[in-house]
Amino acid sequence: VAESDGAVVDVGPIAHGGHCVARLDGRVVFVRHALPGERVRIAVTEKTARFWRADAVEVIEAAPERVTPPCRHAGRCGGCDFQHVSPPGQRALLTEVVREQLRRLAGFDWRGEVEAVDPDALGWRTRIRYSVDERGRAGLRAHRSHHIVDVRRCPLAHPDTPPVPRAGWEGDSVEAIVSSTGQRILVTDAPRIPDGLGLLDGVAGADGVRRSGSVELTERVRGRDFTVTGSGFWQVHPAAAGTLVDAVLDGAQATTGDVAFDLYGGVGLFAAFLAEQVGPSGRVVSVEGGRSAHGDAKTNLSRYPHARAVRAPVEKALIGSRLPDRADVVVLDPPRSGAKAAVRSICALEPRRIVYVACDPAALARDLGSFAARGYSVVDLRAFALFPMTHHVECVAVLAPASP
Ligand SMILES: C[S@@+](CC[C@H](N)C(=O)[O-])C[C@H]1O[C@@H](n2cnc3c(N)ncnc32)[C@H](O)[C@@H]1O
Repeated sequence: VAESDGAVVDVGPIAHGGHCVARLDGRVVFVRHALPGERVRIAVTEKTARFWRADAVEVIEAAPERVTPPCRHAGRCGGCDFQHVSPPGQRALLTEVVREQLRRLAGFDWRGEVEAVDPDALGWRTRIRYSVDERGRAGLRAHRSHHIVDVRRCPLAHPDTPPVPRAGWEGDSVEAIVSSTGQRILVTDAPRIPDGLGLLDGVAGADGVRRSGSVELTERVRGRDFTVTGSGFWQVHPAAAGTLVDAVLDGAQATTGDVAFDLYGGVGLFAAFLAEQVGPSGRVVSVEGGRSAHGDAKTNLSRYPHARAVRAPVEKALIGSRLPDRADVVVLDPPRSGAKAAVRSICALEPRRIVYVACDPAALARDLGSFAARGYSVVDLRAFALFPMTHHVECVAVLAPASP
């Protein structure tokens, strides 16, 4: 690796994944901690037959968006990609990434911009998972490595997340959580709470240490409460759930009496708001594969007799005969891998509107291509900076049958 260390490269465009593209002797090099237009000295970190990876270790010509990283672990800790970029600069990079993915994989010319969500830099992680090393010490992983960096307090963590004792842990990870209703807990994935740490109840500013699965949190969104058990999925940025609910409801345009699906529904967040909109003469079905999230969805939807929580893989549920065979509105919020296997069945429901919430613009773009091939085109697409300092971005695409 070392023979190319110290090479100077001119940095090209941002790529999906938090690095920029440069060339060295005709070879593609993905450079972290750099910005398009910069000239940097690199240290090569990985070589493959197709490309190299490198870190910028000296900036010879800086881009205007470059700032001094607010975190002293920047560059060593793998949690962040864009500590060296101003918040507006980060959104410009993400806009470029979303635009490029949509153009290349969906043939869609997106003119929007990634929208800021407050807080837009630090203090936004209401859930932060620290890794535990073989000596029981908690920290954050280095980039593409099992090495654990000694980060006691990540500045991305919401100021109300409880501090994590440095040592004495068992298992692989410990998560510090603050819920929107003010519960503060540490969740260990170890089968038992390590000796000494069980005494933390009421100590260290936390409500206690809990085992994963034994935790029940209450999250409040736009005045409604949701139960989230254990490590079930919940959006991390404090403004994320509300922002996404607003964008989804705007896009879905559900009305009284509609039949609506909330696919990959988690604890029933979107389903609950859709249930309000369609009213008792409508129907809402939330489909979720995870056992604990499904249990929570049942609880969270129990006050709406016209809403139902189904536990199944989406791609199986939609081809079975237990669910309505048509829908007015379909909302889907799949994991990073997207919803490739479900596109055909979603289109077969002939919805008036499809709202696709996506945490990976590449999977979204690929699936938008499949929807387009089945007659659904994008009528609106918004993107939100819900993960400041990282390369992650959340998109909400609204699809409707293409006009003939
Ligand atoms: C990105 S989360 C969305 C949750 C919810 N919409 C929210 O905003 O809180 C994706 C959810 O899909 C579930 N999931 C993943 N693959 C699935 C599949 N094939 N079928 C059903 N659910 C799945 C996960 O358990 C997770 O709860």
